[in-house]
Amino acid sequence: MTAPDPRLARLKGIAPSILASDFGALRSQVQECVDAGVTVIHVDVMDGHFVPPITMGPIVVDALKGVGAVLDVHLMIERPERHLAEFAKAGADCLTVHAEATPQLHFALGQARELGALAGLAVCPGTGLAPLEETTSLVDLGLCMTVNPGWGGQKFIPTSFGKIERMAALLGPDAVLQVDGGVDLSTIGRCAAAGATSFVAGSAVFGKPDPGEAVRALQAAADGALAAA
Ligand code: DX5
Ligand code: ZN
Repeated sequence: MTAPDPRLARLKGIAPSILASDFGALRSQVQECVDAGVTVIHVDVMDGHFVPPITMGPIVVDALKGVGAVLDVHLMIERPERHLAEFAKAGADCLTVHAEATPQLHFALGQARELGALAGLAVCPGTGLAPLEETTSLVDLGLCMTVNPGWGGQKFIPTSFGKIERMAALLGPDAVLQVDGGVDLSTIGRCAAAGATSFVAGSAVFGKPDPGEAVRALQAAADGALAAA
């Protein structure tokens, strides 16, 4: 039996999404989070096709290399398999592709691992779990979108709690189960209790005056819910 990839453990916990950060102060804002104990930074890549906005590409991943956290790259782009190599080269530790973005999911997930990254599979709120059922053994991180992808600051979709439970049962204890969208102090506890282990938070971290303090409060809320469960 091979030892688990050490990056898996670092993907867990609060994953600040830099989409909500001040890009003029990107590196120092990320550093504040790392100083507060964060071990993962979430990078939202949008192409103007899979989702309407265009955000950032491999250059930004490269700029965060060596920041002291694993780089979790959420690819909200069509045909992600065509771009995985560039993101891996830029320093991505986990490459997450959307079930809705390619007809070649097995290929894309396998390619992510072959490039030396962990492989993530994201499903939108309106997508069932069939794509995950078909690819479980290729998935290191399952991403349950708890809003429709494309924008920060949206409201958490409450039916997601049941879906998180179903995803946790499918993934088992070895994979990371991530939630993304509307995660804040009012929703994170129930996400943790439902089985989520990685919590993407944009506005709930960078929308606050003290991102480091926000990270600590979110982590305490997740831990508290688990302790009470
Ligand atoms: C949305 C992105 C999220 C976004 C979350 O499509 O995938 O990662 O940054 O933002 P908040 O935490 O503000 O909902
Ligand atoms: Zn995201």
